Amino acid sequence: MGIEQIRIRVPATSANLGAGFDVFGIALGYPADIIEVEKSEKTEIEITGTGREHIPTDPRKNTAGIVANALGKTVKITIHRSIPLSSGLGSSAAPAAGVAVAINLMFDLGLSREELVRLAAQGEQAASGVQHADNVAPAICGGFTIVHKNKVISLMPNNIGIVAVHPEIIVSTRTARALLPKKMWLGDVSFNTGGAASMVVGMMKNDIKLIGESMENRGIEQVRSRLIKGYPQVRKSALDAGASGVTISGSGPTMIAVCRMDERENIAQAMIQAFMDNQVKSEAFITTIGKGAEILEKSIEN
Ligand code: HSE
Repeated sequence: MGIEQIRIRVPATSANLGAGFDVFGIALGYPADIIEVEKSEKTEIEITGTGREHIPTDPRKNTAGIVANALGKTVKITIHRSIPLSSGLGSSAAPAAGVAVAINLMFDLGLSREELVRLAAQGEQAASGVQHADNVAPAICGGFTIVHKNKVISLMPNNIGIVAVHPEIIVSTRTARALLPKKMWLGDVSFNTGGAASMVVGMMKNDIKLIGESMENRGIEQVRSRLIKGYPQVRKSALDAGASGVTISGSGPTMIAVCRMDERENIAQAMIQAFMDNQVKSEAFITTIGKGAEILEKSIEN
């Protein structure tokens, strides 16, 4: 007897958190994709929901299909998408992470968390061109994650208010990565290292103020912010409304603020208004740091 089919919920994620480029990530309480994986003669992919028309269903090109192929398993994958595409909220990471977790369970592969993250990152590479695990790690492990030298460290801070505001602007990770500086000034590297160290302490202590203050980035955020119309006003509006910190989520264009739970509504409204003042429509996800991939249902074969 084994598992024939699995339904799994995989959360949106936010990478970098300013200070920890390609290292830090958090899982969000919502939105999330629902992924169904079923044993099958050949690998097929079906997609429903937001942005489906822009995502390849060829398993060799789809982030989830690449993971199934890498594991040498044939499965039917159905992805019910809610995470907006090219948003900086880990939309290509979620299916890759979900399929890695599902196949590991269905075929009893006994892969470790680190192995799952590595595999899912291979899948995600298809979307961004570069392998980075800072979205797949929180999508699998939940909470706040640190990826360093093939290790994944995770913490689960509580009651951290998160407001993620997604403007109607398309920014692909490929484009945002093409802008990255080839070299960085040592003073900026040192500033970001200080922020990263403080961020970890903030997460360990559930210290919202310290987390927010540690989110500032030098050298990367500045160049990427040019892709986000209204960035300076949105950033200021969030801070003025009480956010302890605000940054670009992953490669953008979503902007993410950290705050007390009771401040989230006000901050979301201020950020939406600031985008609107720049003629940009946006939607807010009012949430918190959440769980990683979660099995909703399993069917056992007879
Ligand atoms: N760390 C990656 C980047 C995340 O900033 O390019 C992409 O979502």
